[in-house]
Amino acid sequence: MTDKYAVIGNPITHSKSPLIHAAFAKQTQQALRYEAILAPLDGFAATVQTLIEQGYKGVNVTVPFKFAAFALANQYSDRATAAGAANTLTFNAQGIVADNTDGAGIVRDIEHNLRHSIIGKRVLLIGAGGAAEGVLQPLLAAQPSALVISNRSVDKAQRMVKKITDLSSHTLTHLQACTFEDLQGQSFDIVINATSAGLSDSDLAIPNSIFAKNCLAYDMMYGRETPFMQQAKDNGAEVSDGLGMLVEQAAEAFTLWRGVRPETQAVMQDIRKL
Ligand code: ATR
Repeated sequence: MTDKYAVIGNPITHSKSPLIHAAFAKQTQQALRYEAILAPLDGFAATVQTLIEQGYKGVNVTVPFKFAAFALANQYSDRATAAGAANTLTFNAQGIVADNTDGAGIVRDIEHNLRHSIIGKRVLLIGAGGAAEGVLQPLLAAQPSALVISNRSVDKAQRMVKKITDLSSHTLTHLQACTFEDLQGQSFDIVINATSAGLSDSDLAIPNSIFAKNCLAYDMMYGRETPFMQQAKDNGAEVSDGLGMLVEQAAEAFTLWRGVRPETQAVMQDIRKL
């Protein structure tokens, strides 16, 4: 019998995950089916339950269900616990395992595909919503010399710092939260936009000083040039959208489920052409 997987979200019609996983399956000669499923906003748990009953092996989870996915699980990877959110669920005899492959996806895209090492670098993470939470711990694990979280509502950035500090066994002096105004005069080697401002084409109130010489400016969104990307370009930064992260987080989930790591380069090029 062919193993069944899916991505659950709302909305879901534009999801590229079925194409990505189909390409991985073909490339690695794995027999599996992967589809996109729309869950009602108040029906995530019921949708998952139905899929389990139908013999599905696991699901990816996207907006707005990543927190609900974490809450539904009874087993957790460390990176899911750190994020408090899950983008990958695996169903086993003991129940539901929550994992979060978003952070591994962005770190791999930055380090492996874009060839910017994070170790010893000054990193700025803009935003303190679900997208930022998902990547914080893997970014820290990549050992930047400084990791600053900046958010319009600074209390949310401060809460993220406190949460990860409480989970950590040692002090994290290089991890800080600040306002956009506090960024004035500071510069970073890697700047990551994890806000949803680009969705509405809104400018971020961030100063031009943040883009150091040879800076990589990374927007977790894909499919359009955001005002953040434009500002970064105008200030001489190398700019990337989040398509590589999308493909790499999928590769990480695929590896988890199938025990074989797919090649991502060709898949990334194909998806970009769509
Ligand atoms: P997601 O799951 O995409 O992270 P979210 O949890 O709603 O969505 O978080 C959205 C993030 O984008 C937040 O950090 C939000 O800032 P606030 O916490 O101050 O609301 C940020 N954001 C959205 N629009 C923004 C804008 N125009 N300027 C600055 N930050 C913005």
